[in-house]
Amino acid sequence: MQWLLVTDLDNTLVGDDAALERLNAQLIQARSLSNTFLVYSTGRSLTSYRQLCTSVSLLPPDLLVTAVGTEVYAANESEPMASWAAQLQQGWDRALAVQAARAFSALTPQPDTEQRPFKVSYFLRPSDAPAVMAELADALREAGLSAQLIYSGSKDLDILPQQANKGQALQFVQAQLGVATEHTIAAGDSGNDIALFGANRGIIVGNAQPELLDWHRQNLAPHRYLATAHYAAGIQEGLEYFGLLPVG
Ligand code: GLC
Ligand code: MG
Repeated sequence: MQWLLVTDLDNTLVGDDAALERLNAQLIQARSLSNTFLVYSTGRSLTSYRQLCTSVSLLPPDLLVTAVGTEVYAANESEPMASWAAQLQQGWDRALAVQAARAFSALTPQPDTEQRPFKVSYFLRPSDAPAVMAELADALREAGLSAQLIYSGSKDLDILPQQANKGQALQFVQAQLGVATEHTIAAGDSGNDIALFGANRGIIVGNAQPELLDWHRQNLAPHRYLATAHYAAGIQEGLEYFGLLPVG
């Protein structure tokens, strides 16, 4: 049987090097036995993903999704897939998003490497987040922009096109790889991972952020598992729960 494991990186797959080594060894075996696809879905840019690869040992993925679902890369490619980018143009105007956000003093722009064609990113304190997000959503709508706001890790605010988040990119990836929802397992720890879960099987690592845990408690589902273990050990616990890895 063919499975697709799609996992977030920071604080999900990455965070405990020893646990990552153990999971990698299991995944190499599982991939050889059942042709399991491995996809990373990260908020990072490709540049920032490549920096991470110099410090932690990540298995090469079949596809790489970066910038919170706004870019999809085939293995070893440096240019994102144009067929996904083409779907994000409609209703999106990056300059308008930047202009609308400029009116909010609580928004501090993230570094230039993380500003992408279909992603505008800021830092925002949790105490300011609810009010600023509501007002910014109004401002974007009034500017005629079709955008979505995603808050992650109690600090990052991303403005994305309406058509792109980690979940929408996952649907594109599932179509590319020919893997159905029933055979997809998603793992994450923070707000931008909420969109990954949907009807897929899901693993929330034990160290998840409050915004994801709150959402999980309000949307309990039998196909979603909240692990006790943290980081890669939490993913391993979830894969054992779903019967994808032998119980260790
Ligand atoms: C990653 C990205 C950052 C983004 C955050 C949450 O940290 O580098 O730009 O805001 O993920 O999506
Ligand atoms: Mg994360």
